[in-house]
Amino acid sequence: MNNIIRRLRIRGLGIATKLAPAPTPFIFTGPGSSAELVGMIADRGLRSVLVVTDAVLLELKVVDPVLAALKAAGITAHVYSDVEPDPTIAVVMKGVARLKEAGADAVLAVGGGSPIDAAKAIIACRAQGCSPEALDGYFKVRKAVLPFFSIPTTAGTGSEVTIVSVISDPEAQRKFAIVDNKLVPVAIALDPNLMLGLPPGVTAATGMDALTHAVESYLSTLATPATRAMSLGATRVIVRDLPKVYEDGRDIAARQSLAVASCQAGLAFTKAGVGYVHAISHQIGAIYHLPHGLVNAVVLPYVLDFYLDQAATPLAELARACGLEGAEKDDRTSARTFVAELRRLNALLGIPETLDKVDVKDIPELVRRALVEAHGAYPVPKYMSNSDCLDVINLVAGRGSAQSLG
Ligand SMILES: NC(=O)c1ccc[n+]([C@@H]2O[C@H](COP(=O)([O-])OP(=O)(O)OC[C@H]3O[C@@H](n4cnc5c(N)ncnc54)[C@H](O)[C@@H]3O)[C@@H](O)[C@H]2O)c1
Ligand SMILES: [Fe+2]
Repeated sequence: MNNIIRRLRIRGLGIATKLAPAPTPFIFTGPGSSAELVGMIADRGLRSVLVVTDAVLLELKVVDPVLAALKAAGITAHVYSDVEPDPTIAVVMKGVARLKEAGADAVLAVGGGSPIDAAKAIIACRAQGCSPEALDGYFKVRKAVLPFFSIPTTAGTGSEVTIVSVISDPEAQRKFAIVDNKLVPVAIALDPNLMLGLPPGVTAATGMDALTHAVESYLSTLATPATRAMSLGATRVIVRDLPKVYEDGRDIAARQSLAVASCQAGLAFTKAGVGYVHAISHQIGAIYHLPHGLVNAVVLPYVLDFYLDQAATPLAELARACGLEGAEKDDRTSARTFVAELRRLNALLGIPETLDKVDVKDIPELVRRALVEAHGAYPVPKYMSNSDCLDVINLVAGRGSAQSLG
C-alpha cells in the first residue's frame, strides 16, 4: 500500500469517526465515586450484575467496596474473576458462558485494562452469539449489548472510555482489536480509593501507557482542537504527577489527577488514534508477554526520535505545556528536550532503556506485523519504511545506535 492510499484510508476512518461519533460515558469522579456509580445502576432498575475482575484484585479486596455497595443497593453480584493480564479468547468465552448462566442484566468491569477489555468482548460476543475473533476489526457489533459500566483500577489504558477491546490470541501469538462504539460504557467511576494499593512498578507502566496515548493522539493527523486540548492537558498532568504516585502510592490527590488524565488521554485517542508505539508494542507484548505499558514506555522515545524532523512543532508544544526547561527555544531543540524528559522519566520510574527479551531472530516478523497493524489504520505524522521500523526495533532490543533515527 503506498502512502497516498494509506492517507486516503485513514481520512476515511476519520470521516467515519466524525459521522458516527463515539459516545462518552457519564463520569463519576472522586474518592468513593464507585458507590455513586452503583447508585446509578440501581436507579436504572438493574437487579443482577456480572462483575468482571481478576483474582489479584479479589484477593487484595480492591473489589470489596464495590461488592458491598451492590449488596446494599439490593443488586445481586455474580463475580467472574478469571481474567488475566492480556485477556485471551478463552477467557472471553468462559466469561460469556458465565454471563449466560448468571442471566445477569448488566455487566460491571472492575479492574485495569484487562478486565475492562475482557468485559467489553464478553458483552459483544454475548450479543452477537460469536467468538471474539469474528469481531476483529471495525464496527462489527450489530446487535444491542447489555448495559455496561466500568470502574478502572489502573491509570491507565483509558479503556473505560474507548471504543476498543484488545484481545490476545496465544496460539497465533497476536493481539487483535474489536473496535466498536457499542463497547463504550454507559457510566464509569474514577475512584482513587481503588488505586491506592497499586504497586509502584504497575503504577509506572500503566501511567506510561496513558502518557503514550496522550502523546500519540497529540501527534495524530486526525487530531482536532478538542482532542489536542485533552492530549496536552493529560501529558502535562502525567509528567508532573506520575513520579509523585510512584514515590508515594497513597497520595490520593495525585492518584485522582492521574485517573482523570488517563481518562482524558483515552477520550483523545479513541477519536484521534494511536501510532507506531502501539503498533510495535502490541507485537512485542503478544510474543513475550511483557506488560503493555512497560513496552510502550521503552518504545516511545525511539519512535519520537524517528518523528523528530516531521513532528518537531507538536513535540515542542508538549515540552512547553510541561514547562520544561529549555522548551522556549526553537522547535527542534524543544522537541529534543521533550524526548529527553521522557527518557529521564523512564529512568526515574525504574523502566529500562531496552527490552532484553526481544530475540533477534523474531525482529523481522515483529517489523512485518507492526507495519501491517499501523499502515492504513494509524494516523501517524511520518511513515516508516521496513528499514526504519527495523532500526527502531533493533534499538528497543538493545542493538544499534540511536543516531540512525530522526
Ligand atoms: N481498550 C483499550 O483502549 C486499551 C488501551 C491500552 C491498553 N489496553 C489493554 O489493556 C491491558 C493492560 O491493562 P493494564 O495496563 O491496566 O493492566 P492489567 O489490567 O493487566 O493489570 C495489571 C496487574 O495489575 C493488577 N492491578 C490492577 N489494578 C490494581 C490495583 N488497584 N491494586 C493492585 N493491583 C492492581 C492486576 O491484578 C494485574 O495483575 C492490555 O491487554 C492492553 O493491551 C487496552
Ligand atoms: Fe495503550
